[in-house]
Amino acid sequence: MKEVSVVSQVVTPSPIREMFNRAMGMEGVVSFTVGEPDFLTPDHIVEAAVAALRRGEHKYTPNAGILPLRQAIARRTSETHRLEYDPAEEIIVTAGGIEALLLAMMTILNPGDEVILSDPSWTNYSRQALICSAAPRFVQVDAAHNFLFAPEALEAAITEKTKAVVINSPANPTGGIAGREALERLAGIIMRHDLWVISDEVYRELVYDGNEAFSMAMLPGMRERTVVVNSFSKTYAMTGWRVGYALGPACIIGNMVKLQENVAACVNSAAQYGALAALEGPREPVDRMVRAYGRRRQMILDGFASIPGLACYTPQGAFYAFVDISATGMKAGAFAMDLLEKARVIVVPGHAFGDASDKYVRLSFATSEENILEGIARIRKYMQER
Ligand SMILES: Cc1ncc(COP(=O)(O)O)c(C=O)c1O
Repeated sequence: MKEVSVVSQVVTPSPIREMFNRAMGMEGVVSFTVGEPDFLTPDHIVEAAVAALRRGEHKYTPNAGILPLRQAIARRTSETHRLEYDPAEEIIVTAGGIEALLLAMMTILNPGDEVILSDPSWTNYSRQALICSAAPRFVQVDAAHNFLFAPEALEAAITEKTKAVVINSPANPTGGIAGREALERLAGIIMRHDLWVISDEVYRELVYDGNEAFSMAMLPGMRERTVVVNSFSKTYAMTGWRVGYALGPACIIGNMVKLQENVAACVNSAAQYGALAALEGPREPVDRMVRAYGRRRQMILDGFASIPGLACYTPQGAFYAFVDISATGMKAGAFAMDLLEKARVIVVPGHAFGDASDKYVRLSFATSEENILEGIARIRKYMQER
């Protein structure tokens, strides 16, 4: 039998899966692993999708997505980013943010090109780069810079093969947000080296303490070299619906639409009508979920403040707590395994997000307040007894 492709072999399963497998079959485990809202999708969205099915929206849609949804995305982005995008040529609806990211990389990257990612960053970026036969190049980021690239470090990582930089704000796994001034410093470098930016903004609306996420696309000269990726998954508790989108210059989006024709053809039609209702309907359900995440975040921060030896970075957005465990003297993988075995708590070891992030573990606080209280109590006891 001939071997399967190189691409299918170099793309390895995420280490997050390993933790799940270990925990399977264990009784009474408190899990902080899952990066998805524990809320149900708001009713008006569900009803809009059901109504679409009932009135016969059963066919393929345009590859770029239904026009009313692209128009609603344009209107919303005009409010949030103060940028105008043409629904006909500059917006594509995708199967979640993840497909938008992959199509963007497939459009931008040639085999052998390099794409710059932060360490830590969301596990899937590097694998998507590998699917494109491109090379992920990691730049270590730290809490002092809100886990955004330090300008000198970014510039030092750029080679003649570098084609793009991925910026994720608010970030998974850290909850860090990139402010306008920090992005301005990076934009100068990016323009000087003529790079593309993939700006992953899927957590844009989940922000705390009055923080606001800024977008690279909003800076002068950057809209034309930035692909903005967003999603309905996190904001509207719609992970299973698989609807996301990208906005960018027509030369990029047009090619993404061409690729889409050969990948998924289009996003599920009823789900697109649900997404349309999400944008056009009341904001109250989103505000309610954000307030709930805000309370849980505070519980996590208060909890870790009372546990000597563990330092939790204050997340400004998303729903993740990134905890520095270096005072324990353990690597993240060993710490996570030990915590699971002795305290029955699952966290994600930092090496899932990059080799240099081995001194951190990630906890998702998209889980109930009871789980958070119980989990924190167990972690505290574990730390006292170790
Ligand atoms: C940083 C980041 N980007 C993109 C996604 C993709 O989400 P979806 O494909 O559900 O929109 C996720 C999901 O966890 C994420 O954490």
